[in-house]
Amino acid sequence: MPSNRTLAIIKPDAFGARKAGKIIALLEEKGFTLRGAKVEHLTSDRAGQFYAVHRERPFYASLVEFMTSGPCMPLVLEKESAVAALREAIGATDPAEAADGTVRKLYAESKGRNAIHASDSDENAATEIEFFFPGQGLGGA
Ligand code: PPS
Repeated sequence: MPSNRTLAIIKPDAFGARKAGKIIALLEEKGFTLRGAKVEHLTSDRAGQFYAVHRERPFYASLVEFMTSGPCMPLVLEKESAVAALREAIGATDPAEAADGTVRKLYAESKGRNAIHASDSDENAATEIEFFFPGQGLGGA
């Protein structure tokens, strides 16, 4: 059975532009319940660890630099089939390809500054929730 919880991060571009409230409101309108939230300014070490799976990719250095450029806002979100539902709600990586009404269509500037992250599998959601909210039991069922 798919997990009912996933992790989102409102990235430094959207957080710095004071779009966090609008993004959370949109996700709530789409049926998500907020189960965890905090503000964190990632260090290079923390951002590098979070995105370690992409370390061989050409954009890795710029991704880490962007994610450390200001505070971000990790969120634990709950909904049935949360991972798939959130990825649909945020839209394609490149906002130019994102569907109308998605977070990235509404709030992202570019592929490199794309407003929000969402976990891509139940396994990664559990790992990523623990990364930002260790020992709090927020991973869900
Ligand atoms: S893949 O192939 O599906 O793993 O890649 P993708 O999901 O498209 O991207 C993985 C993460 O890298 C970010 N990304 C970029 N950052 C900076 N510059 C460029 N060109 C770029 N392309 C992709 C993308 O936003 C993903 O970050 P997260 O936080 O997971 O959304």
